[in-house]
Amino acid sequence: MSTSDTSLKSKVSPTFDVQKVRIDFPILSKTAYDKPLVYFDNAATAQKPVQVIKAIEEYYTNYNANIHRGVHYLSQRASDLYDGTRSVVQKFINAKSENEIIFTKGTTEGINLIAQTFGRQIINEGDEIILTEMEHHANIVPWQLLCEEKKATIKVIPINDKGELELEKLDALISDKTKLISLVHISNSLGTINPVKEIISKAHKHNIPVCVDGAQSVVHEEVDVQDFDCDFFVFSSHKMLGPTGVGVLYGKEKWLDSMPPYQGGGDMIKRVSFDGTTFGESPSKFEAGTPNIAGVIGLRYAVEYYNQLDRSACTNYEKDLLEYATEQISKISSVKIWGEAKEKEAVLSFTVDGVNSLDLGMYLDTQGIAVRTGQHCTEPVMDKFGINGTIRVSFMFYNTKHEIDYLLMNIVEGIKLLGA
Ligand code: ALA
Repeated sequence: MSTSDTSLKSKVSPTFDVQKVRIDFPILSKTAYDKPLVYFDNAATAQKPVQVIKAIEEYYTNYNANIHRGVHYLSQRASDLYDGTRSVVQKFINAKSENEIIFTKGTTEGINLIAQTFGRQIINEGDEIILTEMEHHANIVPWQLLCEEKKATIKVIPINDKGELELEKLDALISDKTKLISLVHISNSLGTINPVKEIISKAHKHNIPVCVDGAQSVVHEEVDVQDFDCDFFVFSSHKMLGPTGVGVLYGKEKWLDSMPPYQGGGDMIKRVSFDGTTFGESPSKFEAGTPNIAGVIGLRYAVEYYNQLDRSACTNYEKDLLEYATEQISKISSVKIWGEAKEKEAVLSFTVDGVNSLDLGMYLDTQGIAVRTGQHCTEPVMDKFGINGTIRVSFMFYNTKHEIDYLLMNIVEGIKLLGA
């Protein structure tokens, strides 16, 4: 197999200059085991541009203070940046109001928050929640905990052999006991893009609210929560160029207003006495305690980084990388790709006949190539396909075809070395 095949016609927008963006990511010029680092584990976490790294350093160097608690200069400055991030994020996903943006620790905490507040309010004995077979564990386990407590049931939209939802089965799953649908927008292990707008529209005809796990989608697509009309939308900062430990929960104001707090503590109350406590409004009602101030400020710079990019050029570029990698890897006869949805983005999951995925992943690592191996926190997907796991190559707009060629060359070498 030739790994230098450049016969595929590039669909890259002339306005997208990958070398220009790569300069912003210092880690991309590092080495691993004296080999140039090739980072293809972007679905696990993205690398950070210097603008984000500097913003965090600047916060700790120049205006580290707690927010909403001090009259002093530092606290005012930190509060302004923290609070200002809310409107930056509001515009990024086109929420109606800043009050609909709650800062969390990440996607996982966002879903747990919804389950333990909204979920506990609306789910009763005998009720049903609909999920999909391609959910990340973070969009399964919080609902299982809730259903166990409430004696409710989870129903699952199955996936077909290509890794697409069998949406024709949704009508039969919906009943008058269905109280919520929660589903992933883009699958982290298969790359499938789900038609969330269509599903939400159908759910709303039955007055069923919908929660969307957008952890992989805000990274690659422009998201408009008003256009989706989703009731909740959750995502993590670290997958979209920002720091770890920060995420966003979007919720329609009408739901957030009616939901009880998730955690109690400072900054989320109106008045506290031993006779009782009254709570603030959203978003403070859901942000008890000192938040991840540096993280939220870092997220702001990540969003601003996206804002100065041509998003559709980025998306086209990433699609082009996926198409190129898929065509090239398909030339290796022992490779089986998992996830061949028509609508797909940024993820190439595969196994190789006769080669252990972990061994191949470790071989690639010795060559400076970072991929993820295993179940990718989607064990039901692996069960569906009857496999233990896959090798997952996940792309970001800073990856290049040259890196894909290097990956492919090393997959071929790894197969020679490890194959039966
Ligand atoms: N959810 C992350 C992944 O897909 C950790 O790798």
